[in-house]
Amino acid sequence: MTLFINGSGRTGKNGSRRPSLANPGPFLRGWARNPVGVGWPFASSYWTARRLAEATLVAAHLEAGPVLELGAGTGPVTEALIEMGCPVDRIIAVERDAELCLYLRRCFPRLNVLQGNALEIGEMLASARVPSVAAVLSGLPMRAIHPAAAARCYSDVFQRLPPGGAIIQYTYGFRPPVDPQYAGLALETTFVAREWRNVPPMAIWRYRRPTMARAT
Ligand SMILES: C[S@@+](CC[C@H](N)C(=O)[O-])C[C@H]1O[C@@H](n2cnc3c(N)ncnc32)[C@H](O)[C@@H]1O
Repeated sequence: MTLFINGSGRTGKNGSRRPSLANPGPFLRGWARNPVGVGWPFASSYWTARRLAEATLVAAHLEAGPVLELGAGTGPVTEALIEMGCPVDRIIAVERDAELCLYLRRCFPRLNVLQGNALEIGEMLASARVPSVAAVLSGLPMRAIHPAAAARCYSDVFQRLPPGGAIIQYTYGFRPPVDPQYAGLALETTFVAREWRNVPPMAIWRYRRPTMARAT
């Protein structure tokens, strides 16, 4: 699938683009409802969102299905994906917080928003009849999630990624937030970038299944 840079899918006054940080209220309220689950009172910055969208689209196998975004919040990264050429109807956004889901649906009327627990992503995708995905972008606060639950989530999404498919994960920490060897996951991690223009600075990691060496 070829990507073309196009306009934002976010609906603003007169159809204009509405900057993500223009309205911090919904994200702040989400954080107040669940500080551990949301992780930080500020959404990703414009620069972080662009870097994440780029890393995701570079890793994506768009012929395999939609891009899956876990923990979409108020949608700054969703917006960057759309701005960088991913059609809004080729993104599935998963978010647990009901108010944030309403906000996402209002901002991106054609976005497929699944409200629920992304740690049960296998069941969610099965009931939404999504057999495979192009790439996974995760903003889930994995450092605060039990390693077994995080590993199960990753294992479930890798079952729906094509060979060579990747999870792009962001974190405020200095190490990959999901142990790539936990419970037989056997993943490779690559440090993609640290974006300093974010409060706090954000690290981006890519997880992949190692490709099997061909027997000669
Ligand atoms: C660090 S914020 C990232 C928000 C947004 N993607 C951004 O970059 O600004 C994490 C988001 O994941 C959501 N979240 C946390 N745990 C979740 C879970 N188990 N299932 C679905 N969403 C979850 C939170 O509600 C929050 O919106």
